[in-house]
Amino acid sequence: MTKAEKYKVLISQIKQLISGEEDFTANLANISSAIHYSFNFHWTGFYLSKGSNLVLGPFQGLVACTRLAYGKGVCGKSFIEQKTVNVPDVHKFEGHIACSSLSNSEIVLPIFYKGNTVAVLDIDSENFNNFDITDEQYLEEISNLISPLFTDYQTR
Ligand code: SME
Repeated sequence: MTKAEKYKVLISQIKQLISGEEDFTANLANISSAIHYSFNFHWTGFYLSKGSNLVLGPFQGLVACTRLAYGKGVCGKSFIEQKTVNVPDVHKFEGHIACSSLSNSEIVLPIFYKGNTVAVLDIDSENFNNFDITDEQYLEEISNLISPLFTDYQTR
């Protein structure tokens, strides 16, 4: 299967997963697993906006940093600038927060609810240059599927 085909299968799986369940945590947990094991990424998970930090949410992979300040690291940049940040080599990204020494490239996508960023989807790869425009486009589609799950989410 091509990468695009894998993403199409993944998107249909995510739609099925969330259509039968309304629990926020259960859905984010299953989505992180579905993404992670579709591509065998190094780490896949969510950081959720709470107070003045991004706080670790459901994820798959090794133990990670629990709190990231807004604007700090790749996640903070994506959150503040409200855009996808694709980093081909994390060692060259000033301010990168290394939760694992095995991560070499990273992509972070904002998740919006009613025009505000409420969370980010963070994916790490052990390969350099792992993420391209295909990943960006399909992961943005996934981020849009996740947005409505934040209906009752409180950022404080
Ligand atoms: N590398 C991220 C921190 C989170 S971990 O990758 C799970 C960053 O720079 O924001």
